[in-house]
Amino acid sequence: MSAHADGTAPPRIPNPVRRGFGDRLRQIRYRAALAYYRLWRAAGGPDYLAEITFWEEILSQRPSSLFDRRVREAAFPPELRRCAAEFRRDSVRLPRLLELGSGPVSILASGIDDGLFTVVAVDPLARLYRYLLRFYGVTYPIQPLPGRGETLLKQFIPASFDIAYSSNALDHTGSPRRCLEQLCRVLRPGGFLLLEGFVREGTHGNWSGLHQHDLLAEHGSLTHLDRAGRRTNLTEDLPLTCVSERVCQFKDRGIEAFGYEVSPDMPPDPPWNYQDWYTLLLRRL
Ligand SMILES: C[S@@+](CC[C@H](N)C(=O)[O-])C[C@H]1O[C@@H](n2cnc3c(N)ncnc32)[C@H](O)[C@@H]1O
Repeated sequence: MSAHADGTAPPRIPNPVRRGFGDRLRQIRYRAALAYYRLWRAAGGPDYLAEITFWEEILSQRPSSLFDRRVREAAFPPELRRCAAEFRRDSVRLPRLLELGSGPVSILASGIDDGLFTVVAVDPLARLYRYLLRFYGVTYPIQPLPGRGETLLKQFIPASFDIAYSSNALDHTGSPRRCLEQLCRVLRPGGFLLLEGFVREGTHGNWSGLHQHDLLAEHGSLTHLDRAGRRTNLTEDLPLTCVSERVCQFKDRGIEAFGYEVSPDMPPDPPWNYQDWYTLLLRRL
């Protein structure tokens, strides 16, 4: 998100979770992981710290919006309801959905509330997120597994998912193109791939932290621009066909109430509300 509060200490609330020996050990491991990510960043690796700080700030406040069914429903992408309904017409089982880069609180919770599909979420920070959820006493229906979009085939069988989804995460990865190749491989022919996120987030995020790619949907494809403005069509030669494409302002997408409004540091009508947000639905050939 553009709303990362880089480096600032998150506000603390009285902690409702009882602390035992196991929790203290987990806390030590968490601090050690933060130190590791700090060193990795100093050595030129990806900047996961800003991401962790951002989510810790949200989770530490346990925003009621995360547990409000109406807010979850508004955040849920309508395209996925249609994909799940189409799948259920031809099959008795629930579709199996893979989410790439879910963060600690996936915006697909409403799909679980409504029994639309089963979700397997992967995120490189899954272990830290699990710790934060536990530490702040937040229970959530989707918990990511540790994993990276670039190496999905190390974890999953080819063609083993009916739907794949990613929100605001492809442009946080090291290689969006490699992630798309892997997503295509784990998706069965006829399966759906729904991608959404901020248009040109690298530019909007000042190319800081994990914001190292500009992405946008155009002419049924996902386009990548690097810092120098070099343009690549990321989906052109992949076995995918476009089903639908739309762009709206972030404030009209329905996600903005989902936890993001709670920080006292965030203005009531932040500039990223007016940033463009793409939604691209593709189908695996
Ligand atoms: C801004 S968050 C988006 C979270 C959630 N999808 C949402 O829209 O609220 C970006 C997520 O992408 C994850 N991420 C970063 N690199 C990744 C990679 N190589 N593969 C998968 N996820 C990655 C980050 O850890 C982070 O949780």
